[in-house]
Amino acid sequence: MRKVSSFSKLSKYEKISWLAKNFLYESPVDVINNFAGFWYENVEIQKQFDGFSENTISNFHLPFGVAPNFLINGKDYVIPMVTEESSVVAAVSNAAKFWMERGGIQAKVIDTQKLGQVHFFFQGSPEKLKIYFQNHKSELIKSAADLTANMEKRGGGLLRLDLLDMTHLEPNYYQFKVAFETCDSMGANFINSVLERLGSEFRKMVASSDEFSPEESIEINMCILSNYTPDCLVEASVSCTVEDLGIVNGFAPQHFADKFTKAVRIAEIDVHRATTHNKGILNGIDSLVIATGNDFRAVESCIHTYAAKDGQYRSLSKAWIEKDIFHLSLKFPIALGTVGGLTSLHPLAKTSLQILGNPSAQDLMKIAAAVGLMQNFAAVKSLTTTGIQLGHMKMHLTNIIAELKANLEEAKQIETYFNDKVISVSEVRNYLQKLRDSISPKTI
Ligand code: MEV
Repeated sequence: MRKVSSFSKLSKYEKISWLAKNFLYESPVDVINNFAGFWYENVEIQKQFDGFSENTISNFHLPFGVAPNFLINGKDYVIPMVTEESSVVAAVSNAAKFWMERGGIQAKVIDTQKLGQVHFFFQGSPEKLKIYFQNHKSELIKSAADLTANMEKRGGGLLRLDLLDMTHLEPNYYQFKVAFETCDSMGANFINSVLERLGSEFRKMVASSDEFSPEESIEINMCILSNYTPDCLVEASVSCTVEDLGIVNGFAPQHFADKFTKAVRIAEIDVHRATTHNKGILNGIDSLVIATGNDFRAVESCIHTYAAKDGQYRSLSKAWIEKDIFHLSLKFPIALGTVGGLTSLHPLAKTSLQILGNPSAQDLMKIAAAVGLMQNFAAVKSLTTTGIQLGHMKMHLTNIIAELKANLEEAKQIETYFNDKVISVSEVRNYLQKLRDSISPKTI
């Protein structure tokens, strides 16, 4: 077993050397060169990146793209997107342009509440606990006043504190469910600090109250925000007359609209399709979330829980035709920040927010909904008309060309040749070989 102690205290070079020797079995110099190739030349920026995480030995780059032609609530945007998946940015840009020409996207924030929980165990009468809680609730909230003061000045703070009796699920288990408004910040640190204060104060209050016997004590199990924020909700939609959809990839408007709405219906009723359908939506949302320095794991877990809120995992979007109008809408909860955390520290996250016109958190929620909606439109449009592989394979071809190290002239010829053919790595490799053979005949 290759156990190591005090690894974090080693220098970056020492860490890489250890890795090279123990796991890569390569010369440390080569391994250092490989990792160092991805360091920033600017030492200060590299230091900043190293500081975001621990045991940092290099940077892992992802493509940063932009998707133009977004018209959201009458305002035009270019969307910064960080994704490694080819065709995501191209597809969303096409969809955005399509809808820009049809009045754009409508988006609205329904609510912005974030949630946290204090999980605790109490041995004793539930009734006594509930009465005590009601009588001392404002005192308990006041105990966190020093922590909430700043957020209150910004228009946020603690909105609601409820005691939930969970003893029907687990003996002696209770929780505080706490609702917060965190304005433009994602608010994780703020929420967790307040929760820890509420938990420890309540435990002390009960322990020192003569209303409870010494046996009736509280044990705090944990205090943590919940990434499921069903009341931090946003909705985006597009609509136009069926006729205005025009001919879509060779499909007459009514035919396309019918196929499209049926496809979304399938994602509402079939869990396997729903998962892929929502993955497509998240292709867009995640790319924006990463580009703006937000927490994509939190966003993903929240959205998936919401998709399963009625007991079955379902499509996040809905599509329907009513009185000859085609509608597509998308609703989901998302907790985002535009101040604090990585949003201000990561130089490119800052730039992303600048590209978006330095939006408020609510604006960013609307932009995320619009991007998810467009990504969904693009995917379902392709799936129900040309099939997804046409677009994917074009982008795939670019990657294959790069992988095979074709030069510019060869790349052009490959693109022309494969324009109407099935693409695979081996087919492209064979074609490239033929091209090269025809230019430089083998000497015998
Ligand atoms: C691929 O990353 C995303 C899609 O599979 C989404 C979908 O099927 O709706 C194309």
